[in-house]
Amino acid sequence: MNNQQKIRVLFVCLGNICRSPTAHGVFEKMVAEAGLENYVDVDSCGTAGYHVGEKPDQRSAQAALARGYPLNHLRARQFQSADFDNFDYILTMDRNNLSDITHLKPQTYSGTLDLLLSFGEGLSYKEVPDPYYGGDQGFQLVLDLIEDASRNLLSEIKQKL
Ligand code: 4NP
Repeated sequence: MNNQQKIRVLFVCLGNICRSPTAHGVFEKMVAEAGLENYVDVDSCGTAGYHVGEKPDQRSAQAALARGYPLNHLRARQFQSADFDNFDYILTMDRNNLSDITHLKPQTYSGTLDLLLSFGEGLSYKEVPDPYYGGDQGFQLVLDLIEDASRNLLSEIKQKL
């Protein structure tokens, strides 16, 4: 295992209070269960700044906790250009997020900037739908899609360590 350099993963959505904190909490737990906390760093942020400093949306936090993923330690922050220097994987929840980040991407960025669900396998979605204005099933779908893609993402990262 490579001791020199951690692999750093950043999940991105719009507000950083629903989808990307969910991905953050799910992936953080999977990394811990694999015993890889010292080799993989996980973070999340939003393309927008509306909710900076806030805890995750209560509906997201409750749905995630019910599946064993605590989110209450997370606080929203906005994406910043320095994130291109600090993350090997920048994975967005939808195509709008991907487009916003792609516009900021320096030509020198050599990491992976893509949709999180490019790692998805079992489910036919390409984007994680925004659950903010919907009901509980939207938050369950967010978790289903994120769990599926996160398993494959972790497999890819394990091969690189
Ligand atoms: P997120 O969801 O991008 O998954 O965190 C949203 C949260 C807040 C808003 C939109 C989406 N908002 O418009 O405030």
